[in-house]
Amino acid sequence: MTDQTDLLLVNEFHPETIARLDEQYRTHKLWEADGRDKIGLINSLSGKCSAAASASWELDPVVYELESLQFIAAFGVGVDGIDFDKTRANGIRVSNTPDVLNDAVADLALAMILAGSRNLINADAYARQGNWLQGPFPFGRSLQGKTLGIAGLGRIGKAVAERALPFGLNIAYHNRRQSELDYSYHDSLESLARASDILLGILPGGESTRGLFNRDIFQALGPDGLFINIGRGSSVVEEELAQSLAEKEIAAAALDVYENEPRIPASLTRLDNIILLPHIGSATRETRRDMGQLVIDNLAAYFDGLPLLTEVSP
Ligand code: NAP
Ligand code: 8YV
Repeated sequence: MTDQTDLLLVNEFHPETIARLDEQYRTHKLWEADGRDKIGLINSLSGKCSAAASASWELDPVVYELESLQFIAAFGVGVDGIDFDKTRANGIRVSNTPDVLNDAVADLALAMILAGSRNLINADAYARQGNWLQGPFPFGRSLQGKTLGIAGLGRIGKAVAERALPFGLNIAYHNRRQSELDYSYHDSLESLARASDILLGILPGGESTRGLFNRDIFQALGPDGLFINIGRGSSVVEEELAQSLAEKEIAAAALDVYENEPRIPASLTRLDNIILLPHIGSATRETRRDMGQLVIDNLAAYFDGLPLLTEVSP
């Protein structure tokens, strides 16, 4: 690999990493071209560019028109932006950035559990707006002895469980397959919701999880329940969540991810029993730098003909 090696950059996934890639490769920025220029850029790279880097959750499908493409280094762990039918058909390999973000995402999940249970965002507004003068803020809920149900006990889900145990929470979970860990397994999401005081979604996107968190699940969680989603917005039926919150079928919710990011439906923004975050699970300086390093290292391995560090084989 030399600074004359061509690399297609699909979107502006992390400016610091992009600056480092600019130094190492002859980079081509797809987002700076528009409309027909994009196809022009892709055609001009045909035969000489075999690798691309992109955010993992969104990838402009025009990239698949690049016939010489053999490798996509994705920034992020959730690869729902990649069309694996196309990559398989065209022999394109894919890497992602697992594990280096577990701590940051799990930390945020704990922050959401605490903020949701103690109603922290509304408490801040209450103090700021002088409402305390009229009387004390309503009581929150304790964590000790409650059950945290984790839908998706994978790399991040396990990091959440480890953090939750010292708060006295019992851990239950639902995956398609039972894990080796000694937490209480539920073979259906509804059974998990029924057993949980706090239900936390940390599932991947894609068709197998689309709309899994629906009104039946919220009703099973019940009127004292707190629902949190930090996985993918597509796993939640947002209008049904809004109805369940408005009708107090569940007590409260906290979301980091949405179906049509960065758009959040008004049915959710108008509610005061939901905390809304702008997809910041992995958004710490350190974690984003580590994710970028993994993109850089996977690209170096690819160009050196070495095994990829974190290849995705769906
Ligand atoms: P992971 O290790 O692959 O864990 C995913 C878990 O979900 C596995 O335990 C899997 O178990 C379970 N699962 C998958 N499909 C399922 C289904 N249809 N029904 C029930 N369980 C299912 O992935 P991870 O690294 O923990 O990341 C999880 C997801 O978090 C990512 O894909 C991404 O979408 C999201 N994420 C969000 C942020 C953020 O900023 N908010 C940051 C990073 C990641 P089985 O295979 O046994 O079902
Ligand atoms: C980031 C994520 O928001 O890794 C994922 O799957 O959702 C987050 O880490 C995203 O990757 C930033 O591009």
